[in-house]
Amino acid sequence: MEKLQMIYEGKAKQLYTCEREDALIIHYKDDATAFNGVKKAQIEHKGMLNNAISTIIFKEMAKANIPTHYLETLNDRDQLCRKVTIIPLEVIVRNLIAGSMAKRLNIPEGTPSLKPIYELCYKDDELGDPLINEDHALAIGFASESDLMTIKTLTLQINEVLKNLFDKLGIILVDFKIEFGKTSDGTIVLADEISPDTCRFWDKETGMKLDKDRFRRDLGQVEDAYQEILRRLETLK
Ligand code: TMP
Ligand code: ASP
Repeated sequence: MEKLQMIYEGKAKQLYTCEREDALIIHYKDDATAFNGVKKAQIEHKGMLNNAISTIIFKEMAKANIPTHYLETLNDRDQLCRKVTIIPLEVIVRNLIAGSMAKRLNIPEGTPSLKPIYELCYKDDELGDPLINEDHALAIGFASESDLMTIKTLTLQINEVLKNLFDKLGIILVDFKIEFGKTSDGTIVLADEISPDTCRFWDKETGMKLDKDRFRRDLGQVEDAYQEILRRLETLK
């Protein structure tokens, strides 16, 4: 399957039409940004690594009966995915407190949460993806009540699948961000990507950060961390 026309370019990926009407090709780039695009760089091989990592994770999701947009990995940077309309919500789950929540509430990073925290942000770079709640999403019409219920149920299931998967690999799933899309028949499916760009992964033994925080916080060894996540996921095969 060939890429035809680029219809969208995001910070880390490009979207192309292809000969299938009901599908798009997602191309993973090496570009990395943080703080809503303020910090920019290229992380060598990131596109290939995130494509490979996301592929393994989407296949694990399918095994767990989570509906996703993923169809097929075409080559080392391109994935064929079902065409969906992205719901403009960044859905976050936190198992341990870190990042923006640690800062906002002045809680030490790494404090375990007594229950998985479910957060919604409005996906809008200009506004800095502000935190919202389900009432805001309903009031503005981002999603219906039943869509929001489906999204929450799927998200908490996805958390369990990911948490158990990474636990087996010696990794703590601290938190993650996912996005959902709607297919032409109205089905809500997990979309976008799941990778070290969109999750916080800490090594269980050493506590070493194996995710994009290495780039956000100038910790070095960014590519090595992504390679390590792929290496461990490949042991599942
Ligand atoms: P946060 O603590 O900065 O709010 O991030 C929570 C999770 O969401 C973390 O795993 C990183 C991920 N994330 C994204 O995928 N995209 C983003 O733009 C941001 C800010 C966070
Ligand atoms: N998505 C954010 C940005 O574009 C990056 C992040 O912190 O993950 O800058």
